[in-house]
Amino acid sequence: MALLELSRVTHAYDSAHGFLQKSKQGTQAVVKDVSMTLEAGKCIGLLGGSGAGKSTLGKIMLGLQRPQSGTVLIHGKDMYTSDKRTKKQLRKHIQAVFQDCYSSVNSKMTAAQIISEPLDNFERLTSREKTYRIGEALDMVGLPASAINKLPKEFSGGQLQRINIARAMISNPSFIVLDEAVSSLDVANQVHIISVLRDLKEQRDMSYIFITHNLKAAFALCDQWTVMDHGKLCGSFSTKAEMMKSEEIAVKQLLDASLSTRPELGTIRKDRHFYAESGQREGAWA
Ligand SMILES: Nc1ncnc2c1ncn2[C@@H]1O[C@H](COP(=O)(O)OP(=O)(O)O)[C@@H](O)[C@H]1O
Ligand SMILES: [Mg+2]
Repeated sequence: MALLELSRVTHAYDSAHGFLQKSKQGTQAVVKDVSMTLEAGKCIGLLGGSGAGKSTLGKIMLGLQRPQSGTVLIHGKDMYTSDKRTKKQLRKHIQAVFQDCYSSVNSKMTAAQIISEPLDNFERLTSREKTYRIGEALDMVGLPASAINKLPKEFSGGQLQRINIARAMISNPSFIVLDEAVSSLDVANQVHIISVLRDLKEQRDMSYIFITHNLKAAFALCDQWTVMDHGKLCGSFSTKAEMMKSEEIAVKQLLDASLSTRPELGTIRKDRHFYAESGQREGAWA
């Protein structure tokens, strides 16, 4: 059974949610008839330009935005129509990491308090077990145990995003939706975080929906690349070569914008150091 299965999902925002999205034909959908499946241990890169509908689709997957039509199944159970108890159980399986690492955390909470939030919500542990799990999560994202008592302002953006990842993975969710999670970081930090995500995927069989407009980051992490344009999925590819053969304009634009000069970039070695096969210095891909 798939971890996540979206079937014919369509969504339009209405005036009650802020902006008025009306056209002469009626409400303008920003997600149109989207079907996709995420299997265990896989990472799907959800790509596309600004306004394509990626974040809306991410929120729909996370249970944060009920679509106007279509179904969202997590482990075969409906995310939106199941009873309250089932929905709470389903939420345990899903975590998210967003672009703005600072607004994703409470500035008054220590790293330990931030990271342990899902444990407090979903698991009953002794304080000893909790401390062990926090230490394990910090280690997984490459931060020292001494980070536990620090406040968000004491971390750099890259370190704080690693705290957000530690929080997302601590309760062993089935999948994590990462919405532009590396986009505001410098290249060295992007590279480090992609490497952490890759290790987690390999060691814990973690699955991701990696939402980005950064094709190089997506090539470094994902097994499948799905391109979205004007609310629709316009192609899904399991190799770079397949993607490069696509005749879809949105796919071509994405490739042109990211890879026209250096198509070999975005390659990743299996250890913690990335580099382009062309001999580019370690830790750089742009
Ligand atoms: N809360 C909202 N209310 C009304 N319109 C929205 C809202 N969020 C996003 N939109 C609109 O939906 C469209 C898709 O946005 P979004 O899902 O954020 O795309 P992306 O993440 O690909 O940039 C855009 O036209 C955007 O303006
Ligand atoms: Mg977005």
